[in-house]
Amino acid sequence: MNVFRKAEDMQAYSLKKRKEGKSIGFVPTMGYLHEGHIHLIRKARQTDDIVVLSIFVNPLQFGPSEDFERYPRDEKRDLEMAEQEKVDAVFIPDTKEMYPGPMSIQLTVRDRTDVLCGKSREGHFDGVATVLTKLFHLTQPNRAYFGLKDAQQVAVVDALIHDLNFPIELVPVPTVREEDGLAKSSRNVYLNGEERKQAPYLFKALEHGRFLVRNGVNNRETIINEVRNFIKEHTHGKIDYVDLLTYPELKPLDEIDERVILAAAVYFDNARLIDNLIFHPD
Ligand code: PAJ
Repeated sequence: MNVFRKAEDMQAYSLKKRKEGKSIGFVPTMGYLHEGHIHLIRKARQTDDIVVLSIFVNPLQFGPSEDFERYPRDEKRDLEMAEQEKVDAVFIPDTKEMYPGPMSIQLTVRDRTDVLCGKSREGHFDGVATVLTKLFHLTQPNRAYFGLKDAQQVAVVDALIHDLNFPIELVPVPTVREEDGLAKSSRNVYLNGEERKQAPYLFKALEHGRFLVRNGVNNRETIINEVRNFIKEHTHGKIDYVDLLTYPELKPLDEIDERVILAAAVYFDNARLIDNLIFHPD
């Protein structure tokens, strides 16, 4: 397995592989790999000749009061897991390599960000779009694999690829869950015992909301309130948001008659958990 720490080495490798006619599948991550990430890698492995994985905790997408410093990191374990999954190349730059000095140019995401996580994480998706633009240029992928656990991120990447004409196919991958329904996340390690027991109720609340929609309740406010109450009843987490929007446009809707996303974010003491369901009303 190739391990690149320098941007120019990563780009030279990718350009060479593309010249040889190989297809590249790219899986961007912030590391501390778990089965959700592994699932993306396996999807890429099924389709593409070359699988490139990036591991980079991107400071640009963290707000000043967020968990950049204490975001979990374990490079040795990540590289072992990547090797086991037969990843061809890992790009693992340090912050200086990605951002040698202040950026003269940064991207601003103008749509799809005034709701859900974009609302409470100001500038977050600008940082995601900026780092992904750099990573796409360095890894030259035919396809890029993203998890629907971060459905708003998928919607933003969809717009990024479309608006800036990246010749890349976006491959959205369903959320991988624990047996009790909790979405796998690097941040789950922050949950204490009691919170870990309560955390699956986030998913159960969303399933309850979907059940209501599919059984004829089509008032947005009613569904949002039902989901909020369900979360309040079963957890002592603090609700950041519960929302029901069109997907991937992320617009509110009066009548639920098209594909929607029902999404929620809840603060526990040391972790903010997010989850969502994307579904048609029938
Ligand atoms: P990270 O949180 O490490 O996630 C990397 C990829 O794994 C994302 O596409 C995410 O949606 C996916 N993923 C995480 N948990 C998952 C799960 N339980 N099931 C399926 N997929 C899952 O998302 C980021 O990093 C960053 O914002 C990044 C795109 C790398 C840009 O910095």
